[in-house]
Amino acid sequence: MSNGTSTSDESRDLESASSDGQDDRSRVQTSEPKGGPDENGKPPSSDGDGTQFKVDDPLFSQRKGIFQNKEMVRVGWVPDGDRIVGRDGYISTISSCLNDAVYGGAPNHISITGKTGTGKSLVSRYVTRRAVNASVEDIRIGHTYLDCSKSSTEVQVISTIGQQLNDEDIYDEDEDIVKMPDTGLPKDKFYKRLWQILDHYDSAIIILDEVDLLKSDHVLMSLAKAVESNDTSCQIGIIAISNQINFFDELNPRTKSAFQTQELNFDPYNANQIQEILRGRDDAFRDGVLTDDVIPLAAAFSAQEHGDARKAMRLFRTAGELADREGSDVVGEDHVRSAQDTLEKDRFRDFLQGTPTQMKAACLSISAKSLCSRDDYVITGELYDAYQQITNAIDMDTIGIRRFRDILDEMQLSQVIETKEVNMGKGGGRHNSHRLLHNPETILDIVMEDTRFREISKSSLKRFA
Ligand SMILES: Nc1ncnc2c1ncn2[C@@H]1O[C@H](COP(=O)(O)OP(=O)(O)OP(=O)(O)O)[C@@H](O)[C@H]1O
Ligand SMILES: [Mg+2]
Repeated sequence: MSNGTSTSDESRDLESASSDGQDDRSRVQTSEPKGGPDENGKPPSSDGDGTQFKVDDPLFSQRKGIFQNKEMVRVGWVPDGDRIVGRDGYISTISSCLNDAVYGGAPNHISITGKTGTGKSLVSRYVTRRAVNASVEDIRIGHTYLDCSKSSTEVQVISTIGQQLNDEDIYDEDEDIVKMPDTGLPKDKFYKRLWQILDHYDSAIIILDEVDLLKSDHVLMSLAKAVESNDTSCQIGIIAISNQINFFDELNPRTKSAFQTQELNFDPYNANQIQEILRGRDDAFRDGVLTDDVIPLAAAFSAQEHGDARKAMRLFRTAGELADREGSDVVGEDHVRSAQDTLEKDRFRDFLQGTPTQMKAACLSISAKSLCSRDDYVITGELYDAYQQITNAIDMDTIGIRRFRDILDEMQLSQVIETKEVNMGKGGGRHNSHRLLHNPETILDIVMEDTRFREISKSSLKRFA
């Protein structure tokens, strides 16, 4: 039972995000694993499928490997609708917004925020696809998906939308096909051509993913006002997605007034939901290789830190890869722990690479606190004290509390820590309190790779806490 689609490029046409069709099912079952590059652009490893371990010499036993369809635990793999877990409420709200488009009417615009890996792109593409498939006879719905990290200028957005919608089938035989180049026209000509293309549709759903990366929000306003301004007769519904929670509040007022949306904020997944998401992929592994603890433990780690399905998937896959590499017949709890450790170190190394020493000292201070205190959360003032002791001990410049707060903000944005406001009761006032989202030991290992911190040892760290 291996339904679903593998797509290495999440910005591909929605065709590949199909989540309900038989087509995808047969595609995956009858073909070799697609094995496109993963989200890091790396080619798939050759041990992706158990069958690839085949050895021709009968003297040697066949090793089956851990995976039977490793594609399913790749991040780019798009699950079918019945494997989209815990997002029913959002699916239903988005479908209500798009409902009128199915009949050729005007869909409502939607703005979606939420942390990374919470299913924003997946769910938007899934529901859009369903709306397009559901459209009543003679109603033509256009749909496009745009990753604004790749098309960020106004002209790029307009020409990409135009190109994606510019299907030969929308034209009558005697009609000239509108040409939509990448560059080389004045901006208003690009718009004009887009309106001409859109006129061939009754309605269009335009997904603008990572919309905060647009160079200007003017394009949002133009698209949202197109019908009102008589630019096109096509009813446009925009689904704009961002993982910056305040992005839509901070749009310029004219755009905001044209772009009235249904707002949705996707919650991080909890441990139960992540368990279900991982169970939906367990046929990536050969029958019986997953011990009972693997999924609950991977889900617990993931929920505790971030509630990000993408990272949970990476953990699940890495645990399998580690087991595979050491020739084990099963994936056990230890593999999940090692995978967690490896991934955490990688993430942290990436994060700290190139950051100023001050950031490293701040990381050390929260690790020291977290190692020594029973309370998970530490208020800014206490952290700052620990930080000062550390910088004094290694004879390093000490920054002021305001800059220290900026560093904490940066750590929060990068999901190194989680911050909440606490009320310390009468006279105590309100304070920001921070919790480390990683294993302090891991952080110490990485920070101490920097020779400037060599005078500090794990055991000496406790005196700074
Ligand atoms: N509810 C879910 N059920 C099953 N798989 C999921 C679910 N949510 C996310 N995933 C998996 O996690 C991957 C990442 O999800 P998605 O791309 O939708 O996250 P996102 O919220 O758009 O994150 P980002 O802000 O980083 O773009 C999906 O491709 C899918 O494999
Ligand atoms: Mg996304």
